Order: sequence, then C-alpha cells, then structure tokens
Amino acid sequence: MKAIVIDEFVSNLAHLKVKETPLPQPQGSRNVSIQITHAAVTHVDMLYAQGLHQNNRRHVQPPFILGTEYAGIVTASPPASAFPPGTRVFGGGLGSFAEHICVDEVGIRKVPDPWSNAEACAVGSSGAVSWGALMEVARLKRGETVCVLGASGGLGVMAVQIAKGVGARVVAVVGGREKEEVVRGVGADEVVDYRVEGWEDRVRGFGEGGEGVDVVYDGIGAVESSLKCLRYRGRVVIVGFAARGGKMENVRANRILLKSAMVHGYRFGEDGRHDPQRTQDVWNGFMKLVEAGTIKPVIYKEEYRGLEAVPRALDSLKTHKAWGRAILRINEEEKEATQKAKL
Ligand SMILES: NC(=O)c1ccc[n+]([C@@H]2O[C@H](COP(=O)([O-])OP(=O)(O)OC[C@H]3O[C@@H](n4cnc5c(N)ncnc54)[C@H](OP(=O)(O)O)[C@@H]3O)[C@@H](O)[C@H]2O)c1
Repeated sequence: MKAIVIDEFVSNLAHLKVKETPLPQPQGSRNVSIQITHAAVTHVDMLYAQGLHQNNRRHVQPPFILGTEYAGIVTASPPASAFPPGTRVFGGGLGSFAEHICVDEVGIRKVPDPWSNAEACAVGSSGAVSWGALMEVARLKRGETVCVLGASGGLGVMAVQIAKGVGARVVAVVGGREKEEVVRGVGADEVVDYRVEGWEDRVRGFGEGGEGVDVVYDGIGAVESSLKCLRYRGRVVIVGFAARGGKMENVRANRILLKSAMVHGYRFGEDGRHDPQRTQDVWNGFMKLVEAGTIKPVIYKEEYRGLEAVPRALDSLKTHKAWGRAILRINEEEKEATQKAKL
C-alpha cells in the first residue's frame, strides 16, 4: 500500500514522500482492518514529522507511518466484533496517512448516521479531548464565561461548541477575519483577535463585572496570557501548545498565586491509558451532544486529494491558513465506484 513513512524526522515538510510499504496485519484478537477514506491533517502530525512532539522522545520514533486521525470502512474484523466488514468507522491512532490501517477495536467508533466519513474524520478525537478538558477537568458550568485560545483550530471549534452546548458564554480568540466568521458560525458569543496588542484585557473585560473569565481553555501554550484573562479563583486547562513551535513557556509561579488560580493539564491519550473508564465517560458525554445535533463538523475549504497532498495540507497549517480540520481524501476513486458508503 501507499503511505507517508517517516524513516527519519524531516526539517522541511515539503520533503515528505509517499512510499510503498507492506499492508498492515492484525496484531491481536481484537484487531480490525480498515480501508482509510479520509485522514485529518493536524498540528500533532506537523510536530511528529519533525520530531518536535513530546511523544517523539519515547513513544513515536522512526520508522513510523505519519497521521493520527482517520475515517474509513472496515474490511476485516474478528467474528464477534461490533464492527463487521462494511461498517463506517472513525478513530485516532498512529498511521493514518496510508491506504489501510489495523487497530484495536477499542480505538474506533461507528460514524454517526447523519455524518459523512469526512465529517466524522474532522471531529475525530478532538471532540472528546475538548469535552474532557472543559467538563471533566475545568468543570465548566452553565452560565459561566469561558475563553477558548486556539478557537479556530480543530480542537478549538469543538471546545466552542461544547461550551455553548452546556450553556456557557464563549469568548473565542483567533487570528483574522476569516477565522472570526468560522467561530461565530459555531456559536462564539465574542471574538478577540490575538494579533491586536492587549487582547488579554479585552478578554478579561467580557468576564462578569469586567473582572475576568471563569475558565480559559488553552490550546496554544499561553499560560501567562491565560492568567491575565482569568478572574480571581478562575481555572485554566492546558490542552496544547500550538503557538510554541515545540519551545515551552516558562511560567512565573507567582502569577498563579496572585489569582489563587487553578492550572490543570489534560493529556487525553495518556489519561486513557491511566484511567480507561474516565475516557469512556468523556466519549459518552461528548457523544450525547453529537446525538442531540449540537456538534457541527468544521472542514477547511481547501481540497486535499491523495497522500501526495500531505505536504501542501501541512503547509496550510504551518502558515495559519487552515481553520477547523484540513481533510485528506484517500482511496476515494475506489469508494465512488463501489458506492457502498456515505463518504
Ligand atoms: N491534550 C491533548 O490530549 C491533545 C490532543 C490533541 C492535540 N493536542 C494539542 O492541542 C493543540 C491544538 O491542536 P489542534 O489540532 O486544534 O491544532 P490546529 O488545528 O492547528 O489549531 C491550532 C490553533 O492555534 C492557533 N494559534 C497558532 N499560533 C497561535 C498564536 N501565536 N497565537 C494564538 N493562537 C495561535 C491557531 O489559530 P490561527 O490559525 O488563527 O493562528 C489555531 O486556531 C496542539 O498543540 C496539539 O498538539 C492536545
């Protein structure tokens, strides 16, 4: 099959190449084989390709197939599996920039009926990550005000919708007019542009009495800015570092003390390894919003056909053009021919 294989980390994303590689084989009794129809192109992929992600120190070392989110069609599964051949599924797991993937069935879910495979892929695990961060960790409540940093990104558009879905007021922080429209389209009440100096003061002004917001969802790695936006005894949940290019911020601890703030990290994958039940609860909580029709997948407008488009899609992320999820279409010609599924 074809795949983007990382034999060694690259310093230039344009150097990523499609290669022939053996078809993945089932490794355990719960393994499901999937023909991939779509893969999301994410910030994590950009870091993985360059060896800049914290997981590259241990878990994710060359050689590996790039890509972490996918949707597809089951081609083979164990006899009693909940996912018989032909089932449309989506999931997260290393190796999605490929034509096929084999995964443990605990890592996949059926594509909800109203969604196409592309839409399910755009939501991927971002919805569950954002649900876990806001609801399990930050304990966001109806009527509170939450600021979402990185609101136009794949995780961010989910965070905005989840917060609205539970009755919170949302201040979305983005870079530019096009992204402002995107976040307003998914329900943001207020939008602040981070490229305007003093943006933290504007965010703080949207909190009750102009005293700061109750919760900051930080997907970009800006804890000191988050603390400026926060009210006394507010909560910050750190989800990602999209603005840091792999270099971490040194946070002055007195800033946390001065506001009696709670600063809490949330690492979805690792949390699931430590506490699978909590991650199951997180998925269940998020899927209730999906079933209620509250969640709208957000697919970036540019088209990326075939694995050859991976460097171009990653470049759209790197240059801040993309919003929502950039989606790669794989194997689509064959699927159009069989017309088996809603893609
Ligand atoms: N905790 C977890 O378990 C977990 C799971 C998955 C991902 N993550 C992490 O979460 C982060 C977000 O992931 P994603 O997939 O949503 O990424 P994404 O789709 O690339 O979105 C990144 C967002 O960050 C914003 N951004 C980038 N540079 C910025 C800057 N200098 N100032 C303000 N905003 C900036 C972008 O807005 P503009 O385009 O407007 O600049 C965009 O909205 C990543 O660091 C990823 O590694 C964490």
